[in-house]
Amino acid sequence: MTKILLTGASGLLGLNLAMAVDGKKHQVLGVANTTPMRWVGFKSVQTELTEPGSIEHLLEEYQPEVIIHCAALANVDDCEHRPDAAEEVNARLPGRIAAAAKASSIKMVHISTDAVFDGIKGDYLETDEPHPLSIYARTKWGGEQAVLSANENALVARVNFYGWSVTGKRSLAEWFVNNLSASQTVKGFTDIHFCPMMVLDLVDILMEAIDLNLTGLYHVVGAQKMSKFEFGRALARKFGFDPELVQPASVLDGGLTAARSPNLTLNTGKIVAAIGHPLPDFETGLQKFYDQYRHGFPELLKNLA
Ligand SMILES: NC(=O)c1ccc[n+]([C@@H]2O[C@H](COP(=O)([O-])OP(=O)(O)OC[C@H]3O[C@@H](n4cnc5c(N)ncnc54)[C@H](OP(=O)(O)O)[C@@H]3O)[C@@H](O)[C@H]2O)c1
Repeated sequence: MTKILLTGASGLLGLNLAMAVDGKKHQVLGVANTTPMRWVGFKSVQTELTEPGSIEHLLEEYQPEVIIHCAALANVDDCEHRPDAAEEVNARLPGRIAAAAKASSIKMVHISTDAVFDGIKGDYLETDEPHPLSIYARTKWGGEQAVLSANENALVARVNFYGWSVTGKRSLAEWFVNNLSASQTVKGFTDIHFCPMMVLDLVDILMEAIDLNLTGLYHVVGAQKMSKFEFGRALARKFGFDPELVQPASVLDGGLTAARSPNLTLNTGKIVAAIGHPLPDFETGLQKFYDQYRHGFPELLKNLA
């Protein structure tokens, strides 16, 4: 059993990861912050990770072999209102965790974002220079740099994913389903492109990357490129909602606080070469997301917190 210290265990990625891997080849200690986790099958604690000494205390207590750092201030618009907190959590904290991991010879995986790019070009490689447009994006890029300069053995994955969460509101896919299931029309941006990956597919690739002991920067996003409008329509069709409820719109009419990058498609050639097989296709991931819905997984998650 590999002991994994997982931060952000109450978050969209962290919770899905913990539930998928704990008790199989891995034993998870999940770290949540403000969300008390009840009835989760894995061990969990509540810790404010920016408190001095908290990371060292967790390492001492749990003695993990791997740290997967998913905790972040991940709400792009909130970060515009809380720049100091975003700097502390997204930029400085990952560097401190990376340094502590290095000092204890623990493998570290740090989760970053496609949003570090300005989205002018698209199909970004790991060697392309980021140009963040928002406080979230700038602080996440700062976090990547802090991790890789503190710990050359760390793995940094730039991701984009969707899945079910404890609040039912943490992913774009949940927002589409919540509205469409209530027959509400929604705006689907035709001028924002991305590569969404189902969270369980992301978990599988991250675990493979850990097994292969990959280090450095990798783009780990979905295999298909699409607009947010196309994503919404695909969800509507899969769930049997009226696809016409997803109306084409421009992000300029979306009333969002933070600037959004238009083309956040990333090139995944480096991770595909490293793992030696293609990434799961979009349709397979979407089917898993739908199957979880049919089996009541969203309700189960809401009862955990
Ligand atoms: N969602 C996406 O599509 C997406 C896209 C690109 C990149 N990412 C990246 O993926 C990672 C996971 O995102 P997510 O969507 O799972 O985020 P999320 O659902 O918003 O969860 C964030 C987690 O971080 C924890 N946290 C925040 N501040 C903390 C602190 N000071 N101390 C301890 N824990 C703290 C939260 O704990 P509590 O809730 O218990 O307070 C929560 O568990 C992040 O690095 C994010 O930047 C996400």
